[in-house]
Amino acid sequence: MLTKNMNFPAHFVWGAATSAFQIEGAAFDDGRAPSIWDTFCRTEGAIQDASNGDVACDHYHRLEEDLDLMKSLGLQAYRFSMSWSRVRPDGHTAWNEKGLDFYDRLIDGLLSRGIAPYMTLYHWDLPQALQDKGGWASRDTVQHFVEYAVAMAERYADRVASIATFNEPWIVATLGHELGIFAPGVKDRRVAAQVSHHLLLAHGQAVRAMRAAGATLPLGIVLNQGPVFPASDSDGDRAKALHDDGHLIRWYMDPLFRGSYPADIIAHLGADAPQVQPGDMEVIATPIDFLGLNYYTRSIVGVEPREHGPEVEVTDMGWEVYPTGLTELLVRLQADYSPPPIYITENGAAYPDGPDADGHVHDTRRSEYLRRHIGAVLDAIDAGVDVRGYFVWSLFDNFEWAFGYSKRFGIVWVDYDTQQRIPKDSAFWYRDFVAGQMARQ
Ligand code: NOJ
Repeated sequence: MLTKNMNFPAHFVWGAATSAFQIEGAAFDDGRAPSIWDTFCRTEGAIQDASNGDVACDHYHRLEEDLDLMKSLGLQAYRFSMSWSRVRPDGHTAWNEKGLDFYDRLIDGLLSRGIAPYMTLYHWDLPQALQDKGGWASRDTVQHFVEYAVAMAERYADRVASIATFNEPWIVATLGHELGIFAPGVKDRRVAAQVSHHLLLAHGQAVRAMRAAGATLPLGIVLNQGPVFPASDSDGDRAKALHDDGHLIRWYMDPLFRGSYPADIIAHLGADAPQVQPGDMEVIATPIDFLGLNYYTRSIVGVEPREHGPEVEVTDMGWEVYPTGLTELLVRLQADYSPPPIYITENGAAYPDGPDADGHVHDTRRSEYLRRHIGAVLDAIDAGVDVRGYFVWSLFDNFEWAFGYSKRFGIVWVDYDTQQRIPKDSAFWYRDFVAGQMARQ
């Protein structure tokens, strides 16, 4: 595949990403307590294949093997998340030394192999004990998160490359609390709006508190975004696209970088708009050092629900393959918000390809997806956007939330019966691509 003309800036970071609940397993080991996803998985009909995270990729028990695999694939960086209920089982009282020790071993194991650790504090797995006290609908959870963030910074900040507070708050608020298709399964627009405010507030307070505790490393947040296009030029379709853009992009970018919620969405929410206390918006707009973006696809929306035509190339998720959207998104965010340096903290595709008779996984479509999206990042850099790194989602096939194990995003195949890992062709493509970039530095 042609990549010889892609020349990224020196020091550009190349990595792969995972999250705790999706790979760790060991759900009952060494003092870990349940998170809301453990509970949600036990809800009838919540997970497509009725699976759960009890074992997942068994990464907790296979840490050394997995670290060696990362090294063999030439990763320069690895993005992972902490399991809050592993390190502080009920979320707000006793700390769990065995859980903390696991992340020490992970971070030290990365460093000893020359791989930079990128930490995310919250990738959706709230301790169930905190959900029982109201979860993110309760303002008390903000304070619990801040304590957790400070403790993690005090323990690990000297060894990790950066800390992101939250992964994809839109998903937590909207899929978790408005549509109810993700944990904790709440269906209430008013609650969802309040949750989004509490997540943003927790982010801002945590950044301030980690700084106050002496953390000097880059701090930021990770948002899921993609451009939203109207299905037609009709007023109705254009209004729908503007609204969805407001809900997905401006609802998070405006408070973080302008200190206010977008007026059109506030008006749309009416009485369901969040309760905001004096000073909250200033806290949310606390300057950050980087913005993480997870990009998968664009959306095309209209008054009428619509489906992709047969001419549209889609992944196994049914998501359109649209690399240009990544360039468009980056250029637009740069123009509208002048954000701090950006990292593409996730990008990747689900395809079902598995081992053939000779044990190799020929996932050509994934390599092509990655190559085209990496090219789109370079186009944005050429257009003046300060992008500093790129992380493939995901290192492993893993627990894809409400889809269970039925969707495979990994560049490494996981045989869930044997826990054997088989790097797919895309892993070798990425290894060689990164090696080529490093050779130029
Ligand atoms: C973004 C999420 O952060 C990650 O957990 C998920 O697996 C991927 N999207 C793919 O859906």
